[in-house]
Amino acid sequence: MRLTNSIFLLLSIITIFLSTIKARNIRKKYTRDSTNGDNYYIIFVNNTLFDIGQNNVKRQDNTIMINSLVNDIHNLIIENKNTYSNIKKLEEIENKDAHLSKRQVQEQYLQDYGDSNLVYPVTTFKDKTILIAYLSPDLVETVKFMPNIIDCVQNRKLKMRSENNYYDENEIKQETQWKNVGIRESLYNHLSLISQGHYSEKLISQYDNNYYYPGSSGEDIDIFIFDSGFNFNHPEFSDKDSRIIKCAFNITQGKVTPSKTDDICLDPNDVYYRYHGSQVADTAAGIKYGSAKRANIYGVIISEIEDINIITGLLYIKNNLFRPHKAIFNFSFGDYYKLNEEDEVIKLYKEVVAEISNLGAVFVAAAGNDSRPSINTRANTIDFPCAFDDVICVGGIDNKYLNVTFLGNRPTMYRKAMYSNYGSVVNVYAPGYIMVGYQDANHVNQEIVTYGNSLSSPLVAGVIATIMSEYPEIQFTTKSMLDYLNRIGEKNIIQYVPDENPTLFINNGKHIVYSEDNKYMGCGIYSGNQKCNCKIFSKINI
Ligand SMILES: *[C@@H]1O[C@H](CO)[C@@H](O)[C@H](O)[C@H]1NC(C)=O
Ligand SMILES: *[C@@H]1O[C@H](CO)[C@@H](O)[C@H](O)[C@H]1NC(C)=O
Ligand SMILES: *[C@@H]1O[C@H](CO)[C@@H](O)[C@H](O)[C@H]1NC(C)=O
Ligand SMILES: *[C@@H]1O[C@H](CO)[C@@H](O)[C@H](O)[C@H]1NC(C)=O
Ligand SMILES: *[C@@H]1O[C@H](CO)[C@@H](O)[C@H](O)[C@H]1NC(C)=O
Repeated sequence: MRLTNSIFLLLSIITIFLSTIKARNIRKKYTRDSTNGDNYYIIFVNNTLFDIGQNNVKRQDNTIMINSLVNDIHNLIIENKNTYSNIKKLEEIENKDAHLSKRQVQEQYLQDYGDSNLVYPVTTFKDKTILIAYLSPDLVETVKFMPNIIDCVQNRKLKMRSENNYYDENEIKQETQWKNVGIRESLYNHLSLISQGHYSEKLISQYDNNYYYPGSSGEDIDIFIFDSGFNFNHPEFSDKDSRIIKCAFNITQGKVTPSKTDDICLDPNDVYYRYHGSQVADTAAGIKYGSAKRANIYGVIISEIEDINIITGLLYIKNNLFRPHKAIFNFSFGDYYKLNEEDEVIKLYKEVVAEISNLGAVFVAAAGNDSRPSINTRANTIDFPCAFDDVICVGGIDNKYLNVTFLGNRPTMYRKAMYSNYGSVVNVYAPGYIMVGYQDANHVNQEIVTYGNSLSSPLVAGVIATIMSEYPEIQFTTKSMLDYLNRIGEKNIIQYVPDENPTLFINNGKHIVYSEDNKYMGCGIYSGNQKCNCKIFSKINI
């Protein structure tokens, strides 16, 4: 007896659970519509039912049948107003012509559409009479099963089909809540990848190379880049009249000196890292290749990557240039120290970073490129500054195989770059292969695809700048920014990570995946936001 009872209880729980899922699915199907599913529907009515050969009789009887059907549907709507998610809108529609007399209403239109604004016949074609009705999703199901109804189909909004606009700007605005949508054709996939959800060639016919970003694009946000030198004399930085781009100051052995020039500050002896700073700056904020093309760039020259130069540089900025909730620091260097052997320098470094972060800055650093876990229990080492609590640690993926030519041939989508460190310390992965523009030693402009975690990190810094510029009312710190990135990022899509830690792939908030040729093999957000048809839903429900 008791057993039967509990089985019954179990069954009820399962049933309730299933119906919850079902209800949610129905809702989800309609979320594209601003009114949450209430919509105008086209109702097809079979008008041959009374065809007994005599045309007059047929026409008359059909009119009676149609009128009675319109009445029934009108009453159905009125009696079920509670099934609408926006009753106010329903009543507005219902009373649209209320201020007019019947005669005026008739004069307004070239045909008689009857008394109801909620359901009315619009035309007849062959054996079908077409009605328009404003229905809630629940009522659609009821109407479909009324007598003589052939079908009831949503009056869908069509996309304007201009040649390039396979994407829908309003749809993007609705998803991201950006005030304006910036769209740039990206010449390499490092930008397009971060402004679309998980791309799968099973769902998309042609990879979308566009970069979509908030129109504010990092405006009034300061990105501080520490490097051995910079050359901002490149078209990527040609808009110096509308934002700050400059060599800020030079720190050598802890002493700060002003930079002699704003545009080009290269150390003549520094051959190896000659282009490094410029490429990092371009990745974060270059006009063509950067993720935040309107952000300010402060190039901080450190002739040696030494602890003391970085710490004094940070404190100098804190005291002189820092603006709360407007600052991003990107560290592409790092090292490791022995676990449990944190010395005073590491402690100071950590404290300075924590303090500036709490004042309203976001720190981003590159995970090492040694292909090992960032906390290495075997070697007893830990990467810093990546492992600091107040630093967002960035790893890289092998996106070089994601370009248009290679799509489809490589099953290794979104795989961790061979060189990238990994592990629980790595907070987010980003494209590791990046196209940059820079000036070579002969002042000739070059464009190349380069790689390394020191480029994934400024790419993320740029994305963060666009988030900060778009939502100036949110007072971000490193920790709250990381929470935010976790909310909007793509989870657990990185492959070939040698451990079980959950992974996050950077995303700027736009997840709809479009196909450049407008062809889709699936439905939902990863397939151009195509409507999923009922069959797919009923399969899920069973
Ligand atoms: C309409 O009804 C007639 C008579 O029942 C039937 O023969 C015809 O197939 C129906 N048409 C449609 C489109 O359902
Ligand atoms: C920075 O200052 C040091 C010491 O004065 C100098 O040797 C170095 O060349 C400077 N770097 C740049 C890029 O100006
Ligand atoms: C930003 O990234 C570059 C690239 O490696 C790195 O050299 C630089 O130190 C980073 N910026 C900061 C503030 O650490
Ligand atoms: C795609 O990758 C292949 C092989 O690396 C390369 O030859 C081709 O130029 C790339 N295409 C683009 C558009 O980057
Ligand atoms: C990887 O790290 C090594 C030093 O550990 C450095 O020499 C090299 O330039 C780095 N490569 C990239 C692509 O960052």
